[in-house]
Amino acid sequence: MPKLCVIPGDGIGQEVIPAAVTILQAALPDLQIIEAEAGWNCFQKHGVSVPERTLELLRDCGAGLFGAVSSPSHKVAGYKSAILTMRQSLDLYANIRPVKSWPSVSPRPAVDMIIVRENSEGLYVGREQMRGDTAVAQRIISRQASQKIGQKTAELMQQLQRKTVTIVHKANVLPLTDGLFRDTVRQTIEAANPDLAINELLVDVAALKMVAEPAWFDVIVTTNLFGDILSDAAAHWGGGLGLAASLNWGDGLALAEPVHGSAPDIAGQGVANPLAAVLSAALLVRFAWGLGEVADRLETAVQQTLAQQSYAQLKTTLAVQEAVLHNLN
Ligand code: IPM
Ligand code: MN
Repeated sequence: MPKLCVIPGDGIGQEVIPAAVTILQAALPDLQIIEAEAGWNCFQKHGVSVPERTLELLRDCGAGLFGAVSSPSHKVAGYKSAILTMRQSLDLYANIRPVKSWPSVSPRPAVDMIIVRENSEGLYVGREQMRGDTAVAQRIISRQASQKIGQKTAELMQQLQRKTVTIVHKANVLPLTDGLFRDTVRQTIEAANPDLAINELLVDVAALKMVAEPAWFDVIVTTNLFGDILSDAAAHWGGGLGLAASLNWGDGLALAEPVHGSAPDIAGQGVANPLAAVLSAALLVRFAWGLGEVADRLETAVQQTLAQQSYAQLKTTLAVQEAVLHNLN
């Protein structure tokens, strides 16, 4: 019986996560739910954005569903982003971000890509310092992390029967760091499966292609910040951030997370779209629990909900939840 650690977090996380859990429970009646805390409210209550107890529960369940956190716009002593803390503390070294053309919300047909973002290093190591009047940030690329992301990419492609991967980098300007990333990822994927086609693009060229010809992409594997930026751009083709799903994934541990934030402007009104949370939960079902058929049912229910003429009239979180439940076969 799968166990799920549920962390609604701040803002609309409190609305979309319960909706996604209701839908998940309809598809998986035996699911065991364990609630945990993280985020800005949690920091204000307990002085820490991710309590040790939450990390323990996540490790114990092996699977989590996380909503969103509001981060203060000014520096607050002792505060660190909850999602970055969880990614680092739990070694969730891959971030899987699929983007596809959904009916009625996608501005372009035939997009169907998966962005595999390295999730543990790069500029996200957060090593910044002042040297006199100069601010310095370190960008770390290691052979080991590059191997791990290459391996994860090859396994994912095997499972999903994907054939072509594009390594996105900036090795023309950063030959040591991005050269290491590119070469290590290529070698690892080649060794794992010599039948996969491997392309390379510089990140600026990839950005243009993402805008002009998004259907060209199959699987993308890239470093942390490039993946952060490209996945937001790609999300536009999938119908915007309201549909953008992600899975933070390590070895034996996965944390699903809708890409949208806590949206304080609409929080508390019951109007947040829960579909990104539902699609993120479906990623967990497929990859963490290996229940491909259940994940297909969830994704098909979302697909059918979006395809219905009445979708535009679904103005509340509850209305979308009910429509998805109705379409869940
Ligand atoms: C994301 C977000 C995070 C990131 C922020 C909230 C730290 O933008 O999940 O893409 O930059 O990774
Ligand atoms: Mn982002």
